[in-house]
Amino acid sequence: MDIRKYNRSAWDRLVENKNEWTVPVSPEVIEKARRGEWSIVMTPLKPVPRDWFPPSMEGLKVLCLASGGGQQGPVLSAAGSHVTVLDNSPRQLAQDRMVAQREGLKMRLVEGDMRDLSAFGDGAFDYVVHPTSNLFVPDVLPVWKECYRVLKPGGTLIAGFCNPIMYMFDLKLEQQGILQVKYAVPYSDLEHMDDPDRLEVRGEWDTLEFGHSLEDQIGGQIKAGFYITGFFEDNYRPDEGEVLPNYTSTLITTRAQKPAC
Ligand SMILES: C[S@@+](CC[C@H](N)C(=O)[O-])C[C@H]1O[C@@H](n2cnc3c(N)ncnc32)[C@H](O)[C@@H]1O
Repeated sequence: MDIRKYNRSAWDRLVENKNEWTVPVSPEVIEKARRGEWSIVMTPLKPVPRDWFPPSMEGLKVLCLASGGGQQGPVLSAAGSHVTVLDNSPRQLAQDRMVAQREGLKMRLVEGDMRDLSAFGDGAFDYVVHPTSNLFVPDVLPVWKECYRVLKPGGTLIAGFCNPIMYMFDLKLEQQGILQVKYAVPYSDLEHMDDPDRLEVRGEWDTLEFGHSLEDQIGGQIKAGFYITGFFEDNYRPDEGEVLPNYTSTLITTRAQKPAC
């Protein structure tokens, strides 16, 4: 199974379907960002605290990792950063291209895999912003390792990711309001390809997904050399048909620093 190819087609289709994570920001959002009024999300609802970034983004080199869709990249570019967006989906990158052309922004757009940042040199970036997307790769440790390599000493990684508890419950019963444990974590879609509930309940989300352990998510960043210096939890809106958000947060954002020397 070529997971990367599968998820490329799936995300290209999500763009066609106008899934919320593929809808570019409006001209009004860009206009405000140019005036210094901006925020970005790594998870569905809560913005990243503004003080996780310096007062001015002017001239900072930012990698928006697996972050296509015309959202974080254009906002940070309008705020004055030199932005590179890397994503696996050509259609997601086309959304960034569209906003760049519409707004006269200069961004570098790279089609690639979040686990292989060999297109970039060591210490190329001041910031890596990585919205919730490592659920689409089976192994997350290479992502943290590459983020560490491409950051300058003292650089910052801001990453959103899923709490694997999201993957534990029977999907069909959850639609009826019942939370019953069905799947073990770490979770892999590859182990449940012929589970009829998977495609039926997920609807347009025909992606291959992986629920990584918190040891790989948080311990993995520490293992790569980062200090974790910020942490918050977030959620989906319960009205999106999921019951779990009524009981616990399901997503996490961390700020991690590469030591200055
Ligand atoms: C939930 S979207 C995140 C982007 C969006 N701008 C946001 O605000 O959340 C997940 C993104 O991960 C990308 N993706 C999936 N697998 C990838 C891979 N192996 N390498 C790079 N990007 C990948 C998808 O194409 C998609 O654009």
